[in-house]
Amino acid sequence: MKQAAAALAVAMFFLTACGGNVSLPADLPLTDTPPAVSDPMQTLPEETTAAPATTEAPATTATPATTAAPATTAAPATTATPATTAAPATTSAPATTAAPAATTAPNANLTAKGFPITVVDGVTYVDGTLIVNKTYDLPADYPQKSLTPEALNAYWTMKQDAAAVGYTIKSISDYRSYYDQRYIYNGYVARDGVTAADRYSARAGHSEHQSGLAIDLNSTAWDFDQTPEAKWISHNCAAYGFVIRYPKGKEEVTGYMYEPWHIRYVGKELAAKLYLGDGQFTTLEEYFGITSAYAD
Ligand code: DAL
Ligand code: ZN
Repeated sequence: MKQAAAALAVAMFFLTACGGNVSLPADLPLTDTPPAVSDPMQTLPEETTAAPATTEAPATTATPATTAAPATTAAPATTATPATTAAPATTSAPATTAAPAATTAPNANLTAKGFPITVVDGVTYVDGTLIVNKTYDLPADYPQKSLTPEALNAYWTMKQDAAAVGYTIKSISDYRSYYDQRYIYNGYVARDGVTAADRYSARAGHSEHQSGLAIDLNSTAWDFDQTPEAKWISHNCAAYGFVIRYPKGKEEVTGYMYEPWHIRYVGKELAAKLYLGDGQFTTLEEYFGITSAYAD
């Protein structure tokens, strides 16, 4: 029954989005026009009224360096391989002992793929990269209050390079506070129910937008990925250090539906590793060997 209700909610959502030709409710910026459905979010709390104008200006604003991974997380991946992955010596063990000795317990500080996990002030870093998803959250008082300088500079450079070849790229939502996100998410839950909302909107503390490393570009319309701008972004953003964070067909992995407009700054080095070519990306979850699932 609960599943049927959830399926109905999702079906209604799809019908509304497609039939009504309105924007997807995913990640709608507070400054954007709300979807043409009954929207419980009539008034915005104080925290949500600040328009994220920073992405339309050059990176001259000072931003705290809090998102920089602490030095302690800088252990190279090569040192992180768990001992359990070492091939057992096959020549020394008699046949009767074919069953290998119980493998050592997985190291709680390593991911399933052997990358080091560090938690500093409630923020999780995997191999030095800040992680926010359904498993890993940010504290409500995480000090970042805008895009990080690195993300802002990369965005600005990408925007200018895109403009030089005829494409207009703009931010429609970037940094969002814990309270912005709580308000947005609660509104979607009131409208679509928890099951549907969880497919496209993060719970408070679980949105990458709170990290100052994520930007929604141009449009949250269903068909955004059919536009020349979206194609340019998917083929070029890695060169600037961004990834398409929620690729098509990866909802079971990332926890979210396809979002061609949501880019996440990871730096050029990691972006190059995550970029598969032809506008395709692997996910942070798959690359690092981590989950994205709420505890409850
Ligand atoms: N739409 C993404 C998942 C967010 O709410 O952060
Ligand atoms: Zn987003």
